[in-house]
Amino acid sequence: MKKIRQPIIAVLGHVDHGKTTLLDRIRNTNVASKEAGGITQHIGATEVPIDTIKQLAGPLIQLWKGEIRLPGLLFIDTPGHEAFTSLRARGGSLADLAVLIVDINEGFQPQTIESIEILRRNRTPFIVAANKIDRIKGWKVEEDEPFLVNIKKQDQRAQQELETKLWELIGKFYEMGFQANRFDRVQDFTRELAIVPISAKYGIGVPELLVLIAGLSQKYLEEKLKIEVEGPARGTILEVREELGLGTTIDVIIYDGTLHKDDTIVVGGKDKAIVTKIRALLKPKPLDEIRDPRFRFDQVDEVAAAAGIKIAAPGLEEALAGSPVIAARSEEEVEKARQEILSQ
Ligand code: GTP
Ligand code: MG
Ligand code: NA
Repeated sequence: MKKIRQPIIAVLGHVDHGKTTLLDRIRNTNVASKEAGGITQHIGATEVPIDTIKQLAGPLIQLWKGEIRLPGLLFIDTPGHEAFTSLRARGGSLADLAVLIVDINEGFQPQTIESIEILRRNRTPFIVAANKIDRIKGWKVEEDEPFLVNIKKQDQRAQQELETKLWELIGKFYEMGFQANRFDRVQDFTRELAIVPISAKYGIGVPELLVLIAGLSQKYLEEKLKIEVEGPARGTILEVREELGLGTTIDVIIYDGTLHKDDTIVVGGKDKAIVTKIRALLKPKPLDEIRDPRFRFDQVDEVAAAAGIKIAAPGLEEALAGSPVIAARSEEEVEKARQEILSQ
């Protein structure tokens, strides 16, 4: 049976441009304020159910003509610091769709450009969030307001300032070969990059951003998102981690099939493939961040793509972040997966 899985949405951009703050706003959490040095150092994953998206989008969801059939969105948070190129690339390569965050007051920065290169290399469609509009001089903040409502309350000077900054961004995108425009001026979303002005901190423009993410995912990615639910699971290791009482675990993004607790998994390690049996499958609750040390998880018997999941199993000490995880249900499948991993 085929079903539509939730799309994987990676958030990318330069350090401190507001990626984690945006996810905090969506989740109603405070992850960003608790990070050491205010810097994200790991890839995160959070499942946002479609009901939460609809609630945050408010009446705007009506703009999306027709039914939203997605079960939710799986957000991937990535670090923006220059030291974490490989984590950004890993997050970017997992994404079905990305949100590129640019601090509108700072404009393009080195990791903005690096993020665009990653997305281009992977042919990942993306939406631009022009963040921190509340910092524009004289900006009037109304929490959680749609941008198109909020903009009408701004005085002439603030509106002009935003336009100027947007045109600077559009010019930078043009230099990199992209036609970009403010989202409400886009005629054809397959050819133009949509820029949504937002304030991640106060939630302004977040309704439109979410409607665009959900709508564009469904409209343009539906075929890609249709999966054979019962097929053997495939995933990518985000992180290898010691957990008290569990031993070495791997945090994995499952992007295809269904993983069962009694599956054998073949996992990429340093110059080897590890074949092991799952001891426990641990799933963060919706809206919980997998990398949050206090995250509450449920022990589950199976998990369908797309999902972030923690796997406990013997022999994971030598597993390698970034490597594949392939489930196998027969000797033959184990051998095939082993060969596939060794040939990479
Ligand atoms: P890295 O993951 O380390 O690359 O940073 P990040 O992109 O996740 O940025 P983060 O969410 O850590 O935000 C950096 C700083 O910008 C924090 O102090 C946030 O409070 C602030 N910030 C983020 N978004 C906004 C916004 O919309 N308005 C204002 N005024 N501040 C913001
Ligand atoms: Mg961050
Ligand atoms: Na930060």
